[in-house]
Amino acid sequence: MDKTNASRIIIALDVQTKEEGLSLVSRLKDARTFKVGLELFTAEGPTLFRKLRALRKDIFLDLKLHDIPNTVAGAVRSAFKLGVQMMTIHTSGGREMMAKAAEAARSAAEAGKGPKPVLLGVTVLTSLKGADLEEVGMGADVASQVLRLAGLAKAAGLDGVVCSPQEIEVLRKEYGRELLIVTPGIRPLWAAAQDQKRIMTPAEAVAKGADYLVIGRPITGAPSPNEAFLRIVEELDQSRP
Ligand code: C5P
Repeated sequence: MDKTNASRIIIALDVQTKEEGLSLVSRLKDARTFKVGLELFTAEGPTLFRKLRALRKDIFLDLKLHDIPNTVAGAVRSAFKLGVQMMTIHTSGGREMMAKAAEAARSAAEAGKGPKPVLLGVTVLTSLKGADLEEVGMGADVASQVLRLAGLAKAAGLDGVVCSPQEIEVLRKEYGRELLIVTPGIRPLWAAAQDQKRIMTPAEAVAKGADYLVIGRPITGAPSPNEAFLRIVEELDQSRP
């Protein structure tokens, strides 16, 4: 895959207001893609997105959509109109939901209004353990549930999945390069782990097969976010085989 290491890094914009968000974006002049989740999107979504697009930044909308197929397809079309490049949907919403979402993304792009947004499936939230899965009527084996849902995402036409660093290898082994892999839980050796428990360095995650890394606090909490970003890019460049 032809991808620069700078474009692999997605900055998690985990702030509450668009002022805070835009201030971080302005301090990260070399970063291209910013992830906006439920909190910031609910507060400031469309207005913030217009500003991000004006600044020529790419948007990863992380709302983990899960609804009936028609509604999720409509949300994909709306996100496309807002200029979103990547977005997440829950694989447990089922094959038809994912297929309709993928079809909505394709037809919006074919109508000539921009590149097709990348649709990523969320498998099992890392906050859920085996016992939680059992409680909601799923098998208690998290690893096999992740594999199963990733396979369903692929069959339904999604572009990739979001997974923890620990799952990269097994997903790559099972599905080859056909699925994009996006992973959070990334910590350079020089950054604090904070609440992340099973972490991996950027170079390790890419070596195992990650296409994109979602990184928040090691960059956004650094005295100079852009320097921290460039330091990670440099580490990735140097670790290239
Ligand atoms: O600051 P940090 O690098 O930990 O941010 C990681 C981002 O990835 C956050 O937006 C967080 O919500 C998200 N995330 C995560 N672990 C998961 C799923 C998502 O850290 N399992």
